[in-house]
Amino acid sequence: MAQNSENSTNQDNFQLTSGGDSSLDLPRLKGTIGPDVVDIRRLYSELGCFTYDPGFVATASCSSELTYIDGEQGILLHRGYPIQQLAANSTFTEVAYLLLNGELPNSSELSNFEGQLSNYSMIHDQLTRLFSGFRRDAHPMAIMVGVVGALSAFYHDSLDINDPQHRMVASYRLIAKMPTIAAMAYKYSIGQPFMYPRNALTYPENFLYMMFGVPTEEFEVSPVLAKAIDRIFILHADHEQNASTSTVRLAGSSGANPFACIAAGIACLWGPAHGGANEAVLAMLEEVGSVNHIPEFIDRAKDRDDPFRLMGFGHRVYKNYDPRAAVLRESAHAVLEELGVRDEPLLELAMELERIALEDEYFVERKLFPNVDFYSGIIFRAMGIPVSMFTVLFALARTVGWIAQWKEMIEDPDQRIGRPRQLYTGPVERNYVAMDQRS
Ligand code: ACO
Repeated sequence: MAQNSENSTNQDNFQLTSGGDSSLDLPRLKGTIGPDVVDIRRLYSELGCFTYDPGFVATASCSSELTYIDGEQGILLHRGYPIQQLAANSTFTEVAYLLLNGELPNSSELSNFEGQLSNYSMIHDQLTRLFSGFRRDAHPMAIMVGVVGALSAFYHDSLDINDPQHRMVASYRLIAKMPTIAAMAYKYSIGQPFMYPRNALTYPENFLYMMFGVPTEEFEVSPVLAKAIDRIFILHADHEQNASTSTVRLAGSSGANPFACIAAGIACLWGPAHGGANEAVLAMLEEVGSVNHIPEFIDRAKDRDDPFRLMGFGHRVYKNYDPRAAVLRESAHAVLEELGVRDEPLLELAMELERIALEDEYFVERKLFPNVDFYSGIIFRAMGIPVSMFTVLFALARTVGWIAQWKEMIEDPDQRIGRPRQLYTGPVERNYVAMDQRS
């Protein structure tokens, strides 16, 4: 089967020919920026074949107005705004508003939005008992998958996905409750009492208060820490149709409620090839231990027979420096200094590892650059956040993107249940063999 990029009859379409006699004129869809898309929806009904694209390397699963990535240039835009500008000038709640509503808020819109989030920050008290069913040494991501999914059992008044008011309330609830649930997962693991959210605090302050405060003492939230974590939240807020976002959309396409869909997204994010990489980077850096051992690990990463990969390196879309990693790399030293961490050997090690990898032919040829997870863990660690919480913080921030993408999907008139097809390679039809006749 041959595909030509130009059609002899319609310059704007694609022409797909099969074997010589059958051909199909496939519409070319144009976005505002980025590659054109071949609309293959009529392919099966007209030519009787499917497309084959494991890992969705060349497949646009939807149209979206939220986030744009140019992986070759290392560009990331949310609703058109470059991530560097948002990270430098904005707040996480402002970016959340932008992703959900399409425009930056004015001051009254923002304070109204933040007020709504404050209203929804507590969780149903009965839900707190769910935590005691988990082992104390449970991974916080395991708790997150369970507790976020269980929100559907408590908030029946925001489960009707066809009601815009329900969708909005569910969105606010999820964004507002994630810091509370995340901090509770941590408190549970160390055996400290849960801290209730305080509405006078900002979103990042509130999270730090619930994480590190205890009921017996006053807790002063460090503005440096609050600013640093807010910036990391901004950098993780959304990232187009990545694995966890696609999971949320796929789960949502069946009409599942938003709490269940976000729980599915959290499960997908947990994997080390995705959000779990921030935890894996720290483990790797600790294993490397010293600059002298770097060549040995680089060699392992290049060895096809060794499953080891340089964690925090490589990305499906970025074939250039991940702009989020660039922001974190630049700010890592500054944040550590502000936090009073003078020498962080892991940061020095990470920068040396990056330097050596970026000069190595293997990584250069494959365009493998540091991704967002490469530096985030080092900053989290300096803030006193335990390694097992790294991916939880990613999930907390990404909830904004997940829910905005879910809402966009539900409101899209083209939305149908997501149902990919396959290339079947199993046995053809055969007759059942009785037990006594099997070899
Ligand atoms: N270390 C060593 N080699 C690598 C790495 C790495 N981190 N990443 C990719 N490669 C190599 C592959 O072995 C492959 O080599 P080959 O062409 O000789 O077979 C080539 O680069 C292409 O890699 P693929 O696995 O085909 O790329 P894919 O787009 O499927 O995977 C992924 C992207 C999963 C991110 C991958 O680069 C990886 O596993 N990185 C480490 C984990 C990580 O940091 N994940 C976080 C991603 S960012 C995020 O989720 C926020």
